[in-house]
Parts: sequence; structure tokens; C-alpha cells
Amino acid sequence: MPVITTIEDLRLLAKKRVPRMFYDYADSGSWTESTYRANEEDFAKIKFRQRVAVNMENRSTRTKMIGQDAAMPVAIAPTGLTGMQHADGEILAAQAAKKFGIPFTLSTMSICSIEDVARGTDNHPFWFQLYVMRDRAFIERLIDRAKAANCSALVLTLDLQILGQRHKDIINGLSAPPKPTISNIINLMTKPRWCLGMLGTPRRNFGNIFGHVQGVENMGSLSEWTAKQFDPALSWNDVEWIRKRWGGKLILKGIQDVEDARIAADTGADALIVSNHGGRQLDGAPSSISALPAIVDAVGSRMEVHMDGGIRSGQHVLKAWALGARGTYIGRSMLYGLGAMGGEGVSKALEIIHKELDLTMAFCGHTDIQKVDKGILLPGTY
Ligand code: GLV
Repeated sequence: MPVITTIEDLRLLAKKRVPRMFYDYADSGSWTESTYRANEEDFAKIKFRQRVAVNMENRSTRTKMIGQDAAMPVAIAPTGLTGMQHADGEILAAQAAKKFGIPFTLSTMSICSIEDVARGTDNHPFWFQLYVMRDRAFIERLIDRAKAANCSALVLTLDLQILGQRHKDIINGLSAPPKPTISNIINLMTKPRWCLGMLGTPRRNFGNIFGHVQGVENMGSLSEWTAKQFDPALSWNDVEWIRKRWGGKLILKGIQDVEDARIAADTGADALIVSNHGGRQLDGAPSSISALPAIVDAVGSRMEVHMDGGIRSGQHVLKAWALGARGTYIGRSMLYGLGAMGGEGVSKALEIIHKELDLTMAFCGHTDIQKVDKGILLPGTY
């Protein structure tokens, strides 16, 4: 077993242990993947100011996201097919988030259902991410199920009315469960742990959808399902309708443009997430960290601004926080941990990020994250 000290170590282990089609699904962006790469690369351009001889005792990274306690400004992002990276993946990740004291967000396109996660966490509150589909009666039922499961926020994704093209998913013939083709069988034979886990769980399909939508016995691939079911005509009026129907804390995910951020603030939502969907939708869009400051300037006094995209270290969390993000989300960093070592791997990812965040904050001369602002960054590098 290799010594794990970084998220990159977890990624390399996940690549060995997870079947190729699911590893590739998590670890790819759309078209040329330029936005996917920029999300991480643009963090590296921002530099810290090191301070010395400052008392570094008694440090705290504690905060609140939309008024809810978080041990650090990090939540688990909603990621599709999480339960295909590891058996019962969403339940394991939610348990790790609960243990660490940060929010967990369940995707509509999860393998474990809303009810599975509620049971697996003894009804600990978690957040539910909603995709808007053409079948509004199904959406109403999903919202009602999230309420019944004690979800404490709805994360409404606005940037996936249509699906960005990810070449590897097409080449791999992505589907859940995988189709028994010769190349899939050969690849699965090299992943005995994964196969054993999957044989031990009944959860191998889209748990929020199967058994809940009439006539859906076989969903085929994610891209076919999205093309048929997701609503390309989604509008801001739908946001209003969903906000009323939900009635609780609402987070709007997928905002990149200042004009859209202003409209998002007008809806009365509690927070928005500056996001390009991990570089999986519009390739050629700016990185999230570069889009963040203008959006914070425009709407940061009216709602919480969060961000995701490229967070592979606690240093990234601190840079985003310094630039005004009151919360960040980890998608791939969590998935790498899960694929590498199941629930323990997610806990490991959270520990790595927390330690990097805590030490970096101290090197920058702070002991309380609430006091950290742009002043920790070197002018001219952001
Ligand atoms: C869905 O959320 C995806 O990015 O595949």
C-alpha cells in the first residue's frame, strides 16, 4: 500500500482500482479539456504572502455555509455515478462528510437513492442537488422525497440543460451498470476489489430514478438519458417555481457570468456556486477561480458566493476563501479518495485538504479563517 500524502496519490490509486469507464467519467472534461485544466492551473498563479513571528496557536477553520456549521469551508460536490467509483459510494461519502463535520451533496444522478443516504447517515441532514427534467411531476416527487429525507438545502444546477461532449465516455460506451462487452469484461477482471464490492450491493443503477419513473426499465447511457429527459427549455421562471415548491435553503449552481449572477441574486436564493461543472460543459469558459472575484464584487453583499472547480488542496480552498468564496466544493478530490479506498479514502481526502488549509493559513499569519481576506495574497498575482 503506497503512502498517501496528497490528493494526487489518491487519484493514482483510484486509477488502478476503478474500472476504466468510471475513472475516465470522473476524470475528464469536455472537448479539448482546456477549462478542466485551467480550473487547477489558475490556482497555481495566485501567490501567498508568508508572515513570520505571529502566534500560531489555537487555530480554527470553522465556518458556516448558508448558516449551517462546517468544520472548514468545504462541502462535498454532487457528482453523478458516485456509487460506480466504489460500491455504495454515496452512502460512504456522506458518512465521511458527517464524521468530518462538512456538508454532503447528493446528485440527482446518484447510484444510491435519497432514501439510501438518509438511512445510511441516520437521517443526518444532507444537501440534495436537482436537475430539472421535462417530467415536472417527477421533479415534484424528487423535491418531496428530499424534504422527507431531512435534506437541509437544495442545490439547483443550471448549467446542464444539455450535456457537454466528453470524448472518453463515448469511446468507453459509458453505462451503469457496464455492458458485458469483451473489453469491459477484460478491464473488470483487473479490478477484483471493485467487482467484489459491486457483487455485495444491490445498488448498481440510478437509485433516484429507477422505480420512480414509469416505463424506465433501462436508462441506457447517461448521455441518452440527458438528451431525452433533461429540460433544454429551463428558464428563470422555473427557478422561481422550484424555490416556492422547495421552501427551504436554495443554492444555485453553475453561474459563471456577472449578468447571470445578478439575476440569481434577484431570485432570493441563499447562495450561488461559481462553477463550470468541473470543465465538463462549455470548454473554453474561464476557470472558476478567475471568474470568482467579479461575481463576489457584483453580488457578494446580497447572497453567499461559493465556488467549485479544480480544488485539489487546502491551499486552493484558502485562495478561494481569500477571494471571497464563503464555501468551496470538492468533486473529483472526493471521488479519487472513494475510488482508491472507499469511505476511508474520502476521510483521507478531507484530512489532507484540512491539514493543507490549516498550515497554509498559519504560514500566512492567521489563526482564524474568519479573519482571512485578500490581504494574504500577493498583489498582482490574482
Ligand atoms: C453530470 O453531472 C456530469 O457532469 O456528468
